[in-house]
Order: sequence, then structure tokens, then C-alpha cells
Amino acid sequence: MRVLVLNGPNLGRLGSREPEIYGDASYDDLVSACETAAAELGLAVDVRQTDSESELVGWLHEAADAALPVVLNPAAFTHYSYALRDACALLTAPLVEVHLTNPAARETFRHTSVVAGVATGSVAGFGIGSYRLALRALADLLR
Ligand code: DQA
Repeated sequence: MRVLVLNGPNLGRLGSREPEIYGDASYDDLVSACETAAAELGLAVDVRQTDSESELVGWLHEAADAALPVVLNPAAFTHYSYALRDACALLTAPLVEVHLTNPAARETFRHTSVVAGVATGSVAGFGIGSYRLALRALADLLR
């Protein structure tokens, strides 16, 4: 089963982006961790990152059209993008929202997720481990 792992703005900067908050692992490390976890779980992952809301909405449309499960880190779009939320609502296969950090333990503006209400579930606060847990949850759901 193919799974899209979609990452929003600034996540391509992992490793150099506020390492005291996001850690030292790079975006390439994140991609490798997803590929390794997926292989162990018998899933095929397509891991992508964009800084563009429009591109992210397009990828969600692609997932909706192909009935693909999605792991999504919407990054800052989490907190205000109704366009992204509406695109997520089109999905028919499971959607897991992931975050490296725990937004509930950070600034107040990060406490709202406009995506959470249309996700199957959410994993936050475990660094790259959040993605491993999300893929594990998807593998269990898809079994
Ligand atoms: C994030 C949390 C968001 O609040 C933030 O805007 C990000 C990353 C996370 O993975 O912890 O860019 O989604």
C-alpha cells in the first residue's frame, strides 16, 4: 500500500531551523526514517515537502483521487489554513496529522489545529518518532 507523507512550510530546513526546538536531524534524516519505517511495515512511502499552500492542496487532491492514506505535517498551515483543512476533508483513506513538537505545549497560536477535526488521529511531540508512530498507526488501520 502506497502512503503519501506530506510536509508543509519550513520543514525542509530541519537540522538548521531552530535546533533547540526542532532538534538536529535534517529533512533528509526525516525522509530516511520514514522510508526505513515504511519498509519494515510493508508500506511504500512517497515523502514530499513544500513551502507552498497551493502545492500541498494539489497533493491532497492527488491523494483524494487515488484514495491514498496520508501522513501530514501541515507545519504553520496547521493553525490557520482552511483551504488545507477542506482539502483534507476530501480524503477517503485515513489521514494522520503529525508534528515533531507538541504544539499544545508551545505558543497559544499553535494550540489550534484546523486540520485535527478532519484527521483520523494525531501524533505530536516525538520528533521524527512522530512519523514512525503515524506510519505504524496507518499500517494497523490498513491491515
Ligand atoms: C510543527 C509545529 C508548527 O506549529 C510549526 O509551525 C511547524 C512545525 C511541528 O512539526 O512541530 O512548522 O508542525
